[in-house]
Amino acid sequence: MSVKILMVCLGNICRSPLAEGILASKLPKDKFIVDSAGTGNYHIGKQPDKRSVDIAMRKGIDISYQKARQFQVEDFYNYDHIYVMDSSNFRNVIEVAPDEQSEKKVRLILDELFPNEKVDVPDPYFGLENGFVTVYDLLDEVCEIIAEKLQKQY
Ligand code: 4NP
Repeated sequence: MSVKILMVCLGNICRSPLAEGILASKLPKDKFIVDSAGTGNYHIGKQPDKRSVDIAMRKGIDISYQKARQFQVEDFYNYDHIYVMDSSNFRNVIEVAPDEQSEKKVRLILDELFPNEKVDVPDPYFGLENGFVTVYDLLDEVCEIIAEKLQKQY
C-alpha cells in the first residue's frame, strides 16, 4: 500500500500545489502518493495560480493539471502525513481533527528545516512575482529533507 502525504495551504492554488509537485518529483511513484488541499473554499476546482505553474515549469515540474479542493475531515483518515504551510493553516486543520491520532499527523512543513522555530511559508498570493521564487526555493529545500526521511521510514 502507498504512503499518502497531503500538503495544505489556504487557497490550494499557490503554495500547496507547488509543495505537492515538488515532493512528488522527489519520491518514487509506486510507493508514495502526494496530494494537496486548501482550508478555504474560494478556489475549488481552479488550476493553480499561473505564477506557481510558471515557476514549477521553469524547474521542470508540471502542476498545471492540478485542481483546487477543500480540506475535509476524511483527509485525516486517508493520509499518513499532513504538512501545513503556515500557523493559521495549522490552527484551522487541528481545529477539526477528530482524535489525537489525527492531530499527530499534522506538521508545520518548515519545522523539518527550522525545527521548533515556527517558520511559515509566506503567502505569496497578494505579493510580487519574486515571492513565488522564495516559496519555491523554501519548498524545494524542505521537500528534499522530507523525501529523504520518508524513504528511510518506509
Ligand atoms: P495559497 O495562497 O494559500 O498559497 O493557495 C492563497 C490563495 C488565495 C488566497 C489566499 C492565499 N485568497 O485569499 O484568495
